[in-house]
Amino acid sequence: MTKLKEATKEQHENLESVVDVMNKMFTREDYERLLTKFYKFYSSIEPRVGVNRLNDSGFDFDARRKTTSLERDLANLGILENVKHLAGSWSDLPDLDTPAKAFGACYVMEGATLGGQIIMRHLKDHLGLTPDNGGSFFNSYGPQVGPMWKEFCAVTTEFAEKNGNDEETVNAAKETFDSFARCFAETSVASN
Ligand code: HEM
Repeated sequence: MTKLKEATKEQHENLESVVDVMNKMFTREDYERLLTKFYKFYSSIEPRVGVNRLNDSGFDFDARRKTTSLERDLANLGILENVKHLAGSWSDLPDLDTPAKAFGACYVMEGATLGGQIIMRHLKDHLGLTPDNGGSFFNSYGPQVGPMWKEFCAVTTEFAEKNGNDEETVNAAKETFDSFARCFAETSVASN
């Protein structure tokens, strides 16, 4: 876990500034654009992670998929059909054809739930968003975020100790961060 954190520190900092959600000037339209980009990325990468059957390594990936909560939020905002139609899918993704690589991608997505807690508080204060009116993605596991993160760290560590291919996992995490940043920069969102 330390290797993952250190190797991706710069990418995380870069993404925080690209996402720019903590900005005081952040509007509801900005939020719709942000969710659209997250939706495009998650709905494209999750099926690629899923084929690796991480269940066999003790990780219930299906319970952590976020595409459904993103769809729920977009529906609550009244833009789901529009977004599905316009956003398309993101194909510039890393190769995730082994469990070791899939764990690297999951690191990025599970780590995002930690930042999500801070983002959720800001969105609640700033735009009145709650898990029931368009904020369920950033709320993610709610009070379970801490325990879910701990569980992810434990399973990933056990996998790495057994399989000894840390480099594959770390590279996939870096590539996932980079792919995310490109998806953010390159997705142009039509206003509805
Ligand atoms: C404005 C946006 C964001 C903020 C404010 C933020 C904030 C944070 C915070 C406070 C942590 C916990 C750090 C710690 O306890 O050491 C964290 C961890 C993390 N975040 Fe973010 N984050 C943001 C966006 C993202 C995004 C978009 C992703 C990926 C898609 C991401 C991936 C991660 C990862 C992988 C970790 C785990 C680091 C580790 O402990 O190994 N973050 N973030």
